[in-house]
Amino acid sequence: MKNLFDLTGRVAVITGGAGLMGMQHAHAIAAHGGTPVLVDVVCADQKAAALSDRHGVPSMAVQCDITQPAQVTELLGKILERFGRLDILINNAANNPKMENSADVNFSRLENFPIEQWYADLAVGLTGAHLCSQIMGSHMARVFRESGARSVILNIASDLAVIAPDQRIYKQPGLPDHLQPAKPVTYSVVKSGLVGLTRYLATYWADSGVRVNAVSPGGIYNGQPDAFVQKLANLIPMGRMANLDEYQGAVLFLISDASSYMTGHNLVIDGGRTAW
Ligand SMILES: NC(=O)c1ccc[n+]([C@@H]2O[C@H](COP(=O)([O-])OP(=O)(O)OC[C@H]3O[C@@H](n4cnc5c(N)ncnc54)[C@H](O)[C@@H]3O)[C@@H](O)[C@H]2O)c1
Repeated sequence: MKNLFDLTGRVAVITGGAGLMGMQHAHAIAAHGGTPVLVDVVCADQKAAALSDRHGVPSMAVQCDITQPAQVTELLGKILERFGRLDILINNAANNPKMENSADVNFSRLENFPIEQWYADLAVGLTGAHLCSQIMGSHMARVFRESGARSVILNIASDLAVIAPDQRIYKQPGLPDHLQPAKPVTYSVVKSGLVGLTRYLATYWADSGVRVNAVSPGGIYNGQPDAFVQKLANLIPMGRMANLDEYQGAVLFLISDASSYMTGHNLVIDGGRTAW
């Protein structure tokens, strides 16, 4: 049986590629022969070089603001110039404020939420995903019509695309109710919107060789305060947050031929949280 997870030679863009999860997606891709392209507003050249050294595959970093159409068009040009192909797009970049260990939480409550922050969060998480899909997905569909080559898009959503944040876990002792931190409204809106974008694009390009799915991960343990971790763990049947590398299998599944008959799906991976 052929290795359904093999990505040899396939070129994969990861937006927000320099971040915590972006690098995990990149390792999963490179470990299976693929070529990760780290796209981020910050420079990720050293990270791309480290991926190549470790896995023995080509890799590339491109500094790009995905909210800017001209920069995304330029990004596609650079990838095609260097590698001559683009097979996978992972829309991973988002503003992901960590309310559990932030001192500056006053903005986060709905009543105070600045409209500038609303626009900024939607620009990265939703408009950025739309622009990358529009520009790179249209290219993928064109290539399919010309050569029959198939491609995939994977949107990184969140368990908070499916359920509302439980604001009780972000509460800090000693603060009055009106000053308690809250997971920002934009996080729910962006992640729910991404699932809608997933279904739209999946059906729009279903006959154009472009599969589009989403994955909705629960929170990753990354040194958050014990009290927060305990409160969150109590909401999760498996009794813990995810380990950093626990989404690699799902990402690999959804971007490889192992999921060749799947499109328009949102795969929730949350230790059972949404089953409760
Ligand atoms: N960390 C978690 O526990 C968790 C859980 C569920 C879902 N997610 C989702 O996973 C994704 C990655 O999260 P993370 O924890 O790695 O976040 P992160 O903050 O570590 O990484 C996000 C990256 O996006 C980049 N970025 C921001 N604006 C950009 C722009 N305009 N153009 C290009 N790049 C831009 C940032 O520079 C950063 O490197 C996010 O969509 C997040 O919502 C994370």
